Amino acid sequence: MTSTYKIAVLPGDGIGVEIVPEAVKALKAVAEKFGHKFEFTEALVGGAAYDAVGHPLPPETLAICKSSGAVLLGAIGGPQYDELPVHLRPEIGALLPLRKELALFSNLRPCMLFPGLLEASTIKEEVIRGVDIMVIRELTGGLYFGDKYREKTPDGGQKATDILTYSTYEIERIVRFAFEVARKRRKKLCSVDKANVLESSRLWRETVSGLEKEYSDVETIHMYVDNCSMQLIRDPRQFDVIVTENMFGDILTDEASMLTGSIGMLPSASIGGEVGLYEPSHGSAPDIAGQNKANPLATILSAAMLLRYSFSMDKEAEVIEQAVTRVLEEGYRTGDLLSCSTEEKEIKLLGTREMGDVIVERIMLL
Ligand code: IPM
Ligand code: MG
Repeated sequence: MTSTYKIAVLPGDGIGVEIVPEAVKALKAVAEKFGHKFEFTEALVGGAAYDAVGHPLPPETLAICKSSGAVLLGAIGGPQYDELPVHLRPEIGALLPLRKELALFSNLRPCMLFPGLLEASTIKEEVIRGVDIMVIRELTGGLYFGDKYREKTPDGGQKATDILTYSTYEIERIVRFAFEVARKRRKKLCSVDKANVLESSRLWRETVSGLEKEYSDVETIHMYVDNCSMQLIRDPRQFDVIVTENMFGDILTDEASMLTGSIGMLPSASIGGEVGLYEPSHGSAPDIAGQNKANPLATILSAAMLLRYSFSMDKEAEVIEQAVTRVLEEGYRTGDLLSCSTEEKEIKLLGTREMGDVIVERIMLL
């Protein structure tokens, strides 16, 4: 009997409701091609959940996630939710608790350049050709989850505080994970911190150094985050695996996304607990929402990561990735992937749904 793989589907807000169905289409194509049984259960999250039931992470949604094999998420948030009390905003009220509740301490963001997209990046071709970096971001600690508070000051102003904490345990588990990933790649690990200023970064660096002997087959270097942000643009090919804390990882991965041509290409996997969560690294893009313009490829590539990391379906994941490679090579683009230097005659501009359709076609053909 074939087993059933349960996938919780959380489209969320903005373009989330457009891109997630395209990734589901790709997963259904994979199921058909390989004879798997995927069961999709849709649930509300983010502003959509707030509008419907008054909370961005309803208990039913969390329960559906916890009882699934994996979660596919679109995007959350939008300007209409920015004035809500902090605990009801989609980011703080839904995404962060979801990461914490599912114990997703490890966030993988693979920045690789699909050959067809060499011209889509704003960075020179000779700098980015062949880029293939795996950024591993710690996801359940640091500033995001530290205490936050406001106080009044005697001069009538206010003082705001965000606490940045990391324990040896938290650092060690993410760094070990990164070493293991590096072992399966080019065996180079760059640990990013701000140890010249921050105490938490000094503990981070000491902890990484303490593990280096155990992973002596991996070449390890330490880099300050400001230098790393510069090196990513100057010479991105020097990097194989980057491991860093939550906030630095958030910032560096937006930067690194431009090495792939567009942030619309950057998938992510958040793992560590029993149920993994897969989402594009970009946001809900309210400016283009509802117009069939969004690039669904980051979400489709996130679905490939879901197959690989949650269901150990490597072949199936590769088929999705190859389909994306093919489609880009054949000149299909969403609007975010157009560049002035692209020769118009070879390029076929597609909407969100049409891009999903060609991906499905290629999956079935491969
Ligand atoms: C990301 C996003 C989130 C983050 C936001 C939406 C809270 O930017 O996943 O990178 O900062 O983690
Ligand atoms: Mg971010």
